[in-house]
Order: sequence, then structure tokens, then C-alpha cells
Amino acid sequence: MSTLAGRAAPTGPVSAATASPGDGGQPAPLALRLRGVHHAYAGAGRDVPVLDGVDLDVARGEFVAVVGASGSGKSTLLHVLAGLERTGHGEVEVGGRALHAASEAELSSWRGRSVGVVFQFFQLPPTLTALENVMLPMDYAGTRPRLDRPRHALRLLERLGVAEQAGKLPAQMSGGQQQRVAVARALANDPPLLLADEPTGNLDSTSGAALLDLLAALVRDDGLTLVMVTHDAGAVQRATRTLRMADGRLLGPLQAPATVRHGHA
Ligand SMILES: Nc1ncnc2c1ncn2[C@@H]1O[C@H](COP(=O)(O)OP(=O)(O)OP(=O)(O)O)[C@@H](O)[C@H]1O
Ligand SMILES: [Mg+2]
Repeated sequence: MSTLAGRAAPTGPVSAATASPGDGGQPAPLALRLRGVHHAYAGAGRDVPVLDGVDLDVARGEFVAVVGASGSGKSTLLHVLAGLERTGHGEVEVGGRALHAASEAELSSWRGRSVGVVFQFFQLPPTLTALENVMLPMDYAGTRPRLDRPRHALRLLERLGVAEQAGKLPAQMSGGQQQRVAVARALANDPPLLLADEPTGNLDSTSGAALLDLLAALVRDDGLTLVMVTHDAGAVQRATRTLRMADGRLLGPLQAPATVRHGHA
């Protein structure tokens, strides 16, 4: 996809071992590295643990699906990866940046260019049209010349099949249309990492499959790294790896498979 062209191609081999500098080879940073991550929300009188020692390595150019029961902490995990929730303990490195050690100001300027987030409940500002919603991350981060932004936003809406909604407010759109606008917005700054929370949850099977095909193509052709919380069998099928959240932990292969580590040039 031309809008995402120019992103650095994923470098291989990438694994926990080769990602550490000083091993003699060319260190290839992971897209994500989590070690011993704990998170708890303040509850009535006591903290309720949600993440309880999460370890994870994700290589650049991977498509990781995260599944698990309602309330198991999947959205919390994505918010931690986006630097929107701070962890109690543990290390969270995203694109080589230590989020656990960054200030709020550093996190907020980092986030604008480095990560796209599709929230479970869209979070589209209600007074902005679909087009303005997609332009928002560009305006905020100052990416692209101002006059190019509406055209780029419209191109993304077209890719997502909702160009005809460009002038509408979120309340005037269906849930599935809002969801696709939210995906377009998350892609607005061509982020190397996309975190998507059930992005097909409100789509019919045809629109859902089209969106999954688009995202899988961005992973395959443009080196996008994608972490997707999903209940969608089609997403699991397209993912390079599926992890399950249970009891505050991630279960499954916690390092990139060799095909991903060595498959990209
Ligand atoms: N802001 C919050 N304050 C307090 N508790 C919270 C907060 N957000 C989530 N929780 C609790 O943390 C746990 C994990 O929530 P989370 O939203 O991460 O689950 P999930 O796996 O995404 O669930 P679902 O599949 O229903 O979206 C739940 O028990 C939830 O009640
Ligand atoms: Mg959730």
C-alpha cells in the first residue's frame, strides 16, 4: 500500500537472543519486548491484579492474535503496549523504547508517530466528522504538509470502504462504519506498530474478511507489526501466532517463530 510504503523493512534474524546488543551480529530490535509485566487496577479497598507477570517478544513484521475470555486483560495488555496504562512492575519496550522509564510527555509524543491504536469502543471524538477524525493524528503529530492531510485521510477511508461517510459525525454512522474509520485513523501516520482491539467485532463477515485481508497485506508487504485482540476465527487463521490471555498471563509461543525471524529480508 502506497500510504505505508517507505517504512523500514523488517530486519532479520530477530529473536530475544539476537536482539540483545553486543552479541557480535547486527542487533535487530524487536517490535515489542515485555518482561515480568504486572498491572493492577485500584479496586474497592484493594488492587485487582490483571496482568501477573507477562513476558513476550514480538518480531517486526509479525501478526500476533491475542485471544482469551472476557475480563482476562486483553484490552489492558494493549493499553500497556500503547503506553496508555503504566505498569506496576516490569519492563515494556516498544520499538526499542523503554516505556516503563519514559515520562508522560515523552510517551505522548512517541505514541503519535510510533503506534496506531484501534480501541475496542472506537473512541472517535463525536464532534468531528469521519474525515476530521482521520486527520487528527496527522494534525497532532504534524505529519505531512497540512494541505495533503485531507487527501490522505480520504484515501485511507477509501481503503477501508467508508469514503462515503467522510462528512458524517460518528453518531450518524453504524458501528461497523465507525470501526473502519477508527482503523483508518490508526493508520494515518503510517505507524510501524498497530494495536487493534477486536477491530472486526462490529463487522459483517464480508467486511470483516476485507479488513483482515487489508491488515494482513500491510503486515506481509509493508512490514507492519500487528497485535490484534480478537474472537474472529479469520483473524486467528491469518495471524503468524496466537496467544491466549488467562489468569493474568500470556500462554503460547512467547517468541517469534523462526519463519518470521528469518523469513523477511
Ligand atoms: N479502568 C479500570 N478500572 C478498574 N478495573 C478495570 C478497568 N479496566 C478494566 N478493569 C478490569 O480489569 C479486568 C481486565 O479488563 P480488560 O478490559 O483488560 O479485559 P478484556 O480481556 O479486554 O475483556 P473483554 O473481552 O470483555 O473486552 C476486568 O476484570 C475489568 O473489570
Ligand atoms: Mg477488551
